[in-house]
Amino acid sequence: MSLLKKFSVLSEEFHKDPYKYFSDLRQYDPIHYEESIDSYFISRYEDVRYVLQNPDIFTTKSLAKRAEPVMRGPVLAQMHGKEHTAKRKIVVKSFVGDALKRLIPLIKQNAEGLLSPYLSKGRIDLVNEFGKTFAVYVTMDMLGLDKKDHQLIANWHSGVADFITSMQQTPEARAHSLWCSEQLAQYLAPVIEERRENPGSDLISILCTSEYEGVAMSNTNILALILNILLAATEPADKTLALLIYHLLNNPSQMRDVLEDRSLLPNAIAETLRFTPPVQLIPRQLSQGATIGGITLPEGSTVFCMIGAANRDPAAFERPDVFDIHRADLHVKSAFTGTARHLAFGSGLHNCVGAAFAGAEIEVVANIVLDRLQNMKLEDDFQYTETGLYTRGPVSLPILFDPVN
Ligand code: HEM
Repeated sequence: MSLLKKFSVLSEEFHKDPYKYFSDLRQYDPIHYEESIDSYFISRYEDVRYVLQNPDIFTTKSLAKRAEPVMRGPVLAQMHGKEHTAKRKIVVKSFVGDALKRLIPLIKQNAEGLLSPYLSKGRIDLVNEFGKTFAVYVTMDMLGLDKKDHQLIANWHSGVADFITSMQQTPEARAHSLWCSEQLAQYLAPVIEERRENPGSDLISILCTSEYEGVAMSNTNILALILNILLAATEPADKTLALLIYHLLNNPSQMRDVLEDRSLLPNAIAETLRFTPPVQLIPRQLSQGATIGGITLPEGSTVFCMIGAANRDPAAFERPDVFDIHRADLHVKSAFTGTARHLAFGSGLHNCVGAAFAGAEIEVVANIVLDRLQNMKLEDDFQYTETGLYTRGPVSLPILFDPVN
């Protein structure tokens, strides 16, 4: 008998702690129908994997619709076939190999620079005083943008992200998101022109100088890809860092293990992504009628893959509700690739193109946080709260540590 009769993924209770509901969802209502938004929510690991790995049936059309008004052109998620493969290859050039080598010192500089004003204080909110700005800085370095404008970019980014990640936006919020997108477009237009003239080694230059089928990309296409990366790279990064530190603080013996042996850090990051994936929902739209988990859904249906629920499925992971950086089923070697066992980076054709970069970025910044903030602990009266249905992370993370001059 379903325990979920009046259950809604849009309810406040679910938003407060979705993890509490995942077991019942997987067991009693694995293809949950949410009437008010006419969408299905898929929670079992096997079903989610099946959906993500069959892009011809479960298309990215709904994602495109969700993104296009604010992205102002086609993003990677809505491309397929030759164009998708070619443009992924172009984009990835700016954050692997030599480009990654160029970025690592900048990532370190960003982390050190942002932490330094707090070192003598012995207290920092790792989300609001560090992580959010850090994530924007790193993406701006990748794009080759001047960081003096980071506050503007962060504000506009957040308006655009709200559009894509909200289930039901008010008309005012929608208007604000569209305004933010317009500001970003106006800000980036002269930058694109300038990089066409004087290209460097940043992502915008790479987009401006690359050709697809022998032709340079249009400004509209370049702008959409810049916004695509700005959002995709920034939104989950600070959340992953804060979640990682929170889980380690809550598991002191695992924190000790990582402090004593930093080669365990990738395990801790991968386990954080499995245990609390910052991207919780991945939408798809059915190109034809299809059966998932024994239930047939009609053509045109919208489904949301529940990554948090799938990553805690006992059919895929042992003791799934336990945070364990030593778990045998973590498969850390592939955890930052398209073949990862956890689904935090998606799976199949549209899996995260920045997965390897994200792993490197979080490892670099986490090492610096662990080095600089000695004897970290959470502030005594701190009440941990997470927010977000689509992307999810801590609202704040105030940490005390030994002050240094
Ligand atoms: C911990 C950090 C990250 C997480 C958890 C994450 C998660 C995801 C997920 C779940 C998807 C798949 C969406 C789908 O199947 O529809 C995705 C796609 C994508 N991600 Fe990431 N991401 C992260 C970091 C990054 C970074 C750093 C970049 C860029 C440098 C990036 C760029 C992209 C792009 C461009 C796509 C679209 C790929 C396509 O459609 O082919 N992500 N990401």
